[in-house]
Amino acid sequence: MSTATPLPLAQFVRVAETARASVSFVLDGVEVKALAGDTLLTAILTHQRHVRRSEFSTEPRAGFCLIGACQDCWVCCEDGTRLRACSTPLREGMRVVTRTGSDTKIYGGGA
Ligand code: FES
Repeated sequence: MSTATPLPLAQFVRVAETARASVSFVLDGVEVKALAGDTLLTAILTHQRHVRRSEFSTEPRAGFCLIGACQDCWVCCEDGTRLRACSTPLREGMRVVTRTGSDTKIYGGGA
């Protein structure tokens, strides 16, 4: 019997400022909510554990510096636009794509 604690579904857990207005955006085809004033990185990582795959190893990446300096948080929008998630404010209706077909092997599919 395993005693390991299961990984949380989200990388970030919101513990403060939870009364801010809600903002809807689409994450990998699913409408989800975050809060006004969130960066795109925060908005994504309150729902899942990564923002993209490394182009070198395909390992999941969740940003590193969080201040716009390391290039680790580039994400794609459905229209092909690339955004640095840690320095991009979340906007209502954004449509972001972070998953590839190989993600179902790690996360078990779904959102
Ligand atoms: S996390 Fe380093 S540039 Fe965004």
